[in-house]
Amino acid sequence: MNHEELRRIAASVATRRGWDFASMRTARDPVPWDYPTVVRAHLRPTSRVLDIGTGGGEKILSLAPSFGTGVGIDASAEMIATACENLPAALAGKVSFTVMPAESLQFPAASFDVVLNRHAPLDLAEAVRVLRPGGVCITQQVGARNTRNICSVFGCDPGGAYPDEDQSLRNTIAVLGRVFREAGCAVTAWGEYDVRYWFLDVASLLFWLQAIPLPHDFTIERHWRQVDRIIAACGTQQGIETNEHRELLIARKP
Ligand SMILES: C[S@@+](CC[C@H](N)C(=O)[O-])C[C@H]1O[C@@H](n2cnc3c(N)ncnc32)[C@H](O)[C@@H]1O
Repeated sequence: MNHEELRRIAASVATRRGWDFASMRTARDPVPWDYPTVVRAHLRPTSRVLDIGTGGGEKILSLAPSFGTGVGIDASAEMIATACENLPAALAGKVSFTVMPAESLQFPAASFDVVLNRHAPLDLAEAVRVLRPGGVCITQQVGARNTRNICSVFGCDPGGAYPDEDQSLRNTIAVLGRVFREAGCAVTAWGEYDVRYWFLDVASLLFWLQAIPLPHDFTIERHWRQVDRIIAACGTQQGIETNEHRELLIARKP
């Protein structure tokens, strides 16, 4: 596709609000777990839940019928403002949102029954500190091989970072598993999947590239040639093919 066509489609797609990707048209092969189902299995009607890196609160709000009280924290004031807008009046006494970094949680020790962390940085010592004894931390991370054919065209990692950018809070599940065990926790489950994934149209690919953004400095002006190369090289009858790599870990504090 030429520059003008890609520029027109890029301008027509909505801007991401919070971490809401519902407008994208995508497909993927079957996967071995569903994050909300895994989390619900660990929730009780009385559970106190912390969601670290909550974004626009989309996930914790969807889980609210299954727990007692919830707090979503995020380092971004813009994300927390969106999460507060997303909070329905009916949940105002049950779920709250606060700007706070994962590395410095402003909660007393043993405040939560369940700590959630999906596709966001995790400071493991802090997460373990705020869990009550017997409490559970559930983390799902975007794997290092995610969308590898697209990342290789841009020379970036799946979060959009170039090799020289700060990765200090980016953890692989293997590292998190070791550190949880060193902290005395029992790793009760972990897994990964790496399946085929398709963007069903160019607009969905462009929404995603702009939303992550991937790479971090993505603009259609700067990167249209790479986008054209991805569409040409990865286009199939089913859509623009890439892969989805996810890792999951569940740890229990003794
Ligand atoms: C990819 S989004 C995931 C949002 C949400 N958990 C989800 O699964 O849809 C990552 C979020 O982590 C937040 N974040 C990044 N660094 C953080 C940190 N050090 N402490 C807390 N939140 C952070 C970002 O602002 C962003 O909202």
